[in-house]
Amino acid sequence: MTTRYATPEQVRHVVQAAGLAPSVHNTQPWRFVARPERLELLADRSRRLAVLDPDGRQLHLSCGAALLHCRVAARALGLDVAVRLLPDPTRPQLLADLVLTGGAPASGDDVRMATAILQRHTHRGAFLERTVPPALLERLRLTAEAEGALLHPVADEDELVELEVLLAAADAHEEHDLAYRTEVLRWVHLGPLQPDGVPVDAAGTLPGASLTQRNFTLTRGEVSGTPAAEHPAVVVVASEDDRPLSWLRAGQALGALLLRAADDGVQAQPLGQVTDVLAYRLRLRSALGMVAVPQLVLRMGFAVGASPTPRRPVEDVLVTVGR
Ligand SMILES: Cc1cc2nc3c(=O)[nH]c(=O)nc-3n(C[C@H](O)[C@H](O)[C@H](O)COP(=O)(O)O)c2cc1C
Repeated sequence: MTTRYATPEQVRHVVQAAGLAPSVHNTQPWRFVARPERLELLADRSRRLAVLDPDGRQLHLSCGAALLHCRVAARALGLDVAVRLLPDPTRPQLLADLVLTGGAPASGDDVRMATAILQRHTHRGAFLERTVPPALLERLRLTAEAEGALLHPVADEDELVELEVLLAAADAHEEHDLAYRTEVLRWVHLGPLQPDGVPVDAAGTLPGASLTQRNFTLTRGEVSGTPAAEHPAVVVVASEDDRPLSWLRAGQALGALLLRAADDGVQAQPLGQVTDVLAYRLRLRSALGMVAVPQLVLRMGFAVGASPTPRRPVEDVLVTVGR
């Protein structure tokens, strides 16, 4: 029997879904090459954040999330997906290759996950007062584990206070750095819509938040309004070690758990400052008594009304070779 590979239209659809993944500062640091029998995911290092992310850790997390979106979108089209992570040691920029072939029809859950790609958005405003159910948090933990990463819920009050203190310190440390501030402003767009970066409307800061949010507009003094009475769930996405392979796995776990949560009406905001720098990641790890290495902290809650941020067109990220 001859193998039935994904059609060019299916590949295009899969890459479009990948593009909707979350990425640090909405840098979308990925490229795709469609070959007759496989789809390659490559890092676009020209989009790496030189100040915030010198070793490309957050680039790998972002590309891992994009890879997860590929897998979800392909499955919903009834395609089977065989993935190899970092398949060629001589080409470290080749993060993964995927073979997409005709498979079993999509299940109801496959379709739900793919639908959640359009429902998931980073939510920086107040969450509704409704608590995230423990059963959902447990499901998210299992989701992360299934992707080869870990999820550490921060439920203990003392741990939460430790996290708040470290996050505030990490944030202050970054904001004092002129190079950091310059880089943030390069990726925040105040004017006409751009295909990448964080639009200023989406960068709003929550008044009175005890968990310090990244301040994309660098105008801390001007935040006003009634302090939010929310109690978000707080979780840490973590990995066994700190290598590119683990970063890709943690990125896929991040992508998967965000879709699973969005399907239940729960959105998230990464609180990246406390994991941007290795020294703070290690301090966080010891404050929370974790064995695993923290990769990203998320606040999560029920939310309505988040709007999509822009993305680059598929033509900018997909090259087709030999078809
Ligand atoms: C590795 C990583 C780190 C991120 N760090 C932050 C952060 O510190 N603060 C924040 O508000 N959003 C953060 N984000 C969310 C991105 O800004 C967001 O995904 C991007 O702007 C696209 O918007 P969307 O998620 O609504 O599609 C992060 C996302 C990723 C993948």
